[in-house]
Amino acid sequence: RRRRKKPVRVYMDGCFDMMHYGHCNALRQARALGDQLVVGVVSDDEITANKGPPVTPLHERMIMVGAVKWVDEVIPNAPYAITEEFMNKLFTEYNIDYIIHGDDPCLLPDGTDAYALAKKAGRYKQIKRTEGVSSTDIFSHGHNQKVDDVGSGSGTRGPGPDAHIVYIDGAFDLFHAGHVELPNILRLARELGDFLLVGIHTDQTISATRGAHRPIMNLHERSLSVLACRYVDEVIIGAPWEVSKDMKRNEKKEASERRYYENKSFVSGD
Ligand code: CTP
Repeated sequence: RRRRKKPVRVYMDGCFDMMHYGHCNALRQARALGDQLVVGVVSDDEITANKGPPVTPLHERMIMVGAVKWVDEVIPNAPYAITEEFMNKLFTEYNIDYIIHGDDPCLLPDGTDAYALAKKAGRYKQIKRTEGVSSTDIFSHGHNQKVDDVGSGSGTRGPGPDAHIVYIDGAFDLFHAGHVELPNILRLARELGDFLLVGIHTDQTISATRGAHRPIMNLHERSLSVLACRYVDEVIIGAPWEVSKDMKRNEKKEASERRYYENKSFVSGD
């Protein structure tokens, strides 16, 4: 009999403060380097000590990371630097094969590399950092960059012939006050049927309805963030404001969708 091959387990850590599509893209690339992705979310205290206080507290950062479809396990209160002790714990308790980080230098306050030990042990792998987006940027200057290097590979599949398709639309500009509620809302929407289709409004539509200062993220960036959510099956990039007749399969479903949408219309609100 053939022995089943042991899955390759990879570990990525990070702050994941004000989760954005750059983080999602990092998690997607990390997952592609193995079979199972374990993510360590750094504690509030460790972030404060190493780069100043986070905007989003640990429990919210945990929810956002856990909602990403490429993440298999989430560990709270991870240390900022991979110490000898923590590295051994990753190898023995969590069966981690490789430790992964973006190709940006990650330095500790004393100027040393946070991943030096993992590199020395030959257990370090790197992914490509997504240019043009960072939590620090979003927080201090608002956001106005172009996305040019985010792969596809969303792994989406079409609905089955009898699938009950649920449609929800909105801005999905992730940095409104309730952004941490978004995974929960999308999970509830998905549970109403077999396939969740998400319509994402254009930048123009959002500016026209919510003011020229919105959205913060452009259509492509918002679409990538929504696609990264584990409850989302497919997106319509640039969905119409009005749900049109041909988007609905029958009256009954239309009614339930409408009801759902009316109940949850705060999804697209600020
Ligand atoms: N990351 C990335 N692309 C970005 C931002 C982060 O690939 N635009 C990666 C980092 O390299 C890291 C992981 O996401 O492997 C978690 O990053 P995190 O510690 O949250 O943040 P920073 O690297 O400090 O990024 P930011 O400037 O957004 O705070």
